[in-house]
Amino acid sequence: MIDPKAAPDTEYARYLSPVDRPCLVTGGADGIGAAVVEALARQGANVAFLDLQTDKAAEVATRCVDADTAHAPIYRIVDLRNIDAMQAAVAEMAAEIGNFAVLVNNAASDDRHTWQEMTPDYWDDRLNTNLLHQFFTIQAVAPAMISAERGSIINIGSSSYMMQEDFFPGYAIAKSGIEGITQTMARTFGPHGIRVNTVLPGWVATERQLDKWWSPEGEAGTLAEQAIKRRIYAKEFAQMVLFLAADDGAACTAQQFLVDGGRR
Ligand SMILES: NC(=O)c1ccc[n+]([C@@H]2O[C@H](COP(=O)([O-])OP(=O)(O)OC[C@H]3O[C@@H](n4cnc5c(N)ncnc54)[C@H](O)[C@@H]3O)[C@@H](O)[C@H]2O)c1
Repeated sequence: MIDPKAAPDTEYARYLSPVDRPCLVTGGADGIGAAVVEALARQGANVAFLDLQTDKAAEVATRCVDADTAHAPIYRIVDLRNIDAMQAAVAEMAAEIGNFAVLVNNAASDDRHTWQEMTPDYWDDRLNTNLLHQFFTIQAVAPAMISAERGSIINIGSSSYMMQEDFFPGYAIAKSGIEGITQTMARTFGPHGIRVNTVLPGWVATERQLDKWWSPEGEAGTLAEQAIKRRIYAKEFAQMVLFLAADDGAACTAQQFLVDGGRR
């Protein structure tokens, strides 16, 4: 079994613009979000994140401190489905480290379910978990970005709805809505120097994916669909997020960037 946290042994680019930049990441305690928090912190950014998982959040912060990052990430344990609590936590963290110039809307849950099992309550829960907070985190950080006339909002989507994956309709349908947020808000915020993009994983070999959903047949099927015949790692996904968080991505907005090994 390949270590899910490993990635090709590559010396990644260093960007100058994120140094000291306040960045907010949702779902930063695990998987792709944790890789994004660590990648930003290693670039010298001042990172804050939100998550439900207390122990894993502490582990991410400790890994950054152990790596001697310029700023130790701060975090709050918040359920993002509670919009008032989330917005209060964002305001508190901005008061602590500065107004956010980067938002990475990452948290989600890809729990399996069928269309027959769906109820109105579960529909609401899937949309609240996978879509609603992405809009309201934007609402929380945008006023300061507008005042500063700069900002980068990176919404993490999923190629699942494009691939017509039918084993989690509430998740895939919510993820398709993220594209609507990106297109709409890119137009709204463009005149204020704020970029809004979606970055979409195909299959990224995170701990949760390997623990909960992995099977030899499933992985063989994914690799058959990918042009690149190996696992894609969270650390590699984070590199696209970094490019968009940095000023190097300043001309990119209203785009979808797939980091999926060329999956069709
Ligand atoms: N890993 C993949 O193969 C894959 C594929 C397609 C899309 N994605 C997307 O990438 C992003 C990250 O996925 P991942 O695989 O790293 O997932 P993950 O489950 O490993 O991490 C998600 C994090 O979000 C947190 N979270 C979930 N619901 C929350 C809530 N209500 N409040 C606060 N925190 C919450 C979790 O605690 C967890 O730390 C998600 O948007 C996901 O939809 C991942």
